Amino acid sequence: MKISGRTKTLGIFGDPIEQTLSPYMHNAAFEALGLDLVYAAFRVRKERLKYAVEAIRALDMPGANVTIPHKESVVPFLDEIDAEARDIGAVNTIVNADGRLRGFNTDGRGYVLSLRNETGFNPEGSTIIIVGAGGAARAIIHSLLSLKPKTLVIANRTPSRAESLASEFGEKFGTAEVKTAGLDLSRYLPGADLLVNTTSMGMAGQESLPFPSIEGIKSGAIVSDIVFRPLDTPLIQEATKMRLTVHRGLGMLVWQGALSFELWTGRKAPADTMKFADVQALGAG
Ligand code: ATR
Repeated sequence: MKISGRTKTLGIFGDPIEQTLSPYMHNAAFEALGLDLVYAAFRVRKERLKYAVEAIRALDMPGANVTIPHKESVVPFLDEIDAEARDIGAVNTIVNADGRLRGFNTDGRGYVLSLRNETGFNPEGSTIIIVGAGGAARAIIHSLLSLKPKTLVIANRTPSRAESLASEFGEKFGTAEVKTAGLDLSRYLPGADLLVNTTSMGMAGQESLPFPSIEGIKSGAIVSDIVFRPLDTPLIQEATKMRLTVHRGLGMLVWQGALSFELWTGRKAPADTMKFADVQALGAG
């Protein structure tokens, strides 16, 4: 990579940030397309977020990504919020349009694109179980509901969080039946076409299933996990043993990044290059 006087900088704001894979995949994409751009990771403390956002304008950066813990708190510092990001209540991508900062959320669409590309799954008319009711669940549920499933069950350790999410999004979309459940999924598994873990359970250091068991799930179901460290989480391992179709978490990371890339550059993202860069970085890390 050559950095010249014309090179523009993008980056990701978060805290902590050292673990991020985004610089690997975006720099690989910029290089593959010969773009004079560079992407770095910035540790931004809560109380400095406002200044980091202002720096996008001051330094004429084309944009930035925003990650934990700033996705919600960045909203008031932006000039415009895209309708989808507003519904989700969180921004993961900022675009600098001639000094106006626009906020987008590519997490949910990234998830659905990756699911479709890897498994061919079409949510329309399907029955889906989402485990978790946090920020990641909000983005994924928003995108899935816009594709008209028949039934969506939100299963969460704390039932009240699932209930408030179900009533908010159930009303907004109106087309699907949105139900809630605790973590005992035995009643819902036989009817599910897609089961998605959106919690952090299964991550390195928290190596267990997010719920007691997937026994009883039908043989044609897809089991999806947004956790990508490790690539094969306990849930993915269990589903693989049961010969189910699996969808690993790395795909969502790549495709939310690919959609950010397209917002910044107007070019089609080289998703395979981005995925390869992530896999290599995970191997090295
Ligand atoms: P994120 O923005 O990454 O989704 P979050 O908003 O903190 O993070 O949400 C984390 C989700 O993981 C929640 O659904 C949480 O359940 P609660 O609402 O009951 O807290 C779920 N979660 C976290 N740790 C869990 C655990 N040990 N067992 C089951 N669910 C867990």
